[in-house]
Amino acid sequence: MVRHLTKISDFTKEECALIIQKAIEMKENPEKFNSTMQHKTMLMIFEKPSLRTRVSFETGLSQLGGHAIFYSIKDSPLGKKENIADTVRCAARYVDIIGARVFKRQDILELAKYSDVPIINMLDDFAHPCQMLCDFQAIQEKKGKLTGLKISYYGDAYNNVTYDLMRIAAIFGMEMDVACPEGAEYSPEQEVLDEIAELSKKSGAKIRVVHDALEAAKNSDVLYTDSWMSYGIPAEQEEARKKVFMPFQVNPKVMSAAKPDAIFMNCLPAMRGYEQTAEVIDGPQSIVFDQAENRLHAQKAIILFLLNKF
Ligand code: CP
Ligand code: NVA
Repeated sequence: MVRHLTKISDFTKEECALIIQKAIEMKENPEKFNSTMQHKTMLMIFEKPSLRTRVSFETGLSQLGGHAIFYSIKDSPLGKKENIADTVRCAARYVDIIGARVFKRQDILELAKYSDVPIINMLDDFAHPCQMLCDFQAIQEKKGKLTGLKISYYGDAYNNVTYDLMRIAAIFGMEMDVACPEGAEYSPEQEVLDEIAELSKKSGAKIRVVHDALEAAKNSDVLYTDSWMSYGIPAEQEEARKKVFMPFQVNPKVMSAAKPDAIFMNCLPAMRGYEQTAEVIDGPQSIVFDQAENRLHAQKAIILFLLNKF
């Protein structure tokens, strides 16, 4: 059966741990894997912008001996002259694996439904699973473990990255506080909260939504934030959003309320003076560029896992 990665909870805890272990091995010894994707092709469909995802997947494929095709949705009949099902049924005849960055979660599910090759969600409005595995690889590298840790998240919680961060924290049985403004437009959707409750029942995770940044920082090992202006949010909302999210900015006061050896993470792109201050992102506790580097390693491991090449 073809496996897809539409959100991080498509994988079990054991599978996530296995992929992270493989990513660490691939980072240490990349040459060992340099022909694992020989004569294989990945199609990457992009509906929204990207730096890290596009460049790390393209580089990763070439390091594995394969080839990646960048395909902008602007150039495509997808959703206009042709439906997603027809697009993917054709593309799957040419390539071995497909990644897609789209606005709507339904489009990822539709791709997965009709594809004969694995679909990787490269970011929709519901999840960012590749980011999670690279982030947890970075946490494993910095903290030496993935259990017994507290993560706190700050800012926009009606958000793809937040949802998958909650899911993976729940999968690994972690403690997590999500600090966000009150109101449905800034908070996790009920569907996500229900899934987190289910996952937590199994793993013993303790995940809360709170509205106080300092409370969330208490006892925290990892402080994580994401853009207040996700791709697609109209520029005219920027000032209003800045005002609403400012009490959840990660600044030196919030950092010092966490454990002294806490690390700071942001999936990037980041805006200094918005979701975090420059002192924090450019300071000694920040690991954002190690996180970004791991996109390369973790995604190579995800590809090999989905193609049964472990
Ligand atoms: N973190 C991340 O996905 O970055 P890009 O939007 O640059 O791909
Ligand atoms: N929440 C952000 C993540 C970017 C990687 C966005 O959707 O733009």
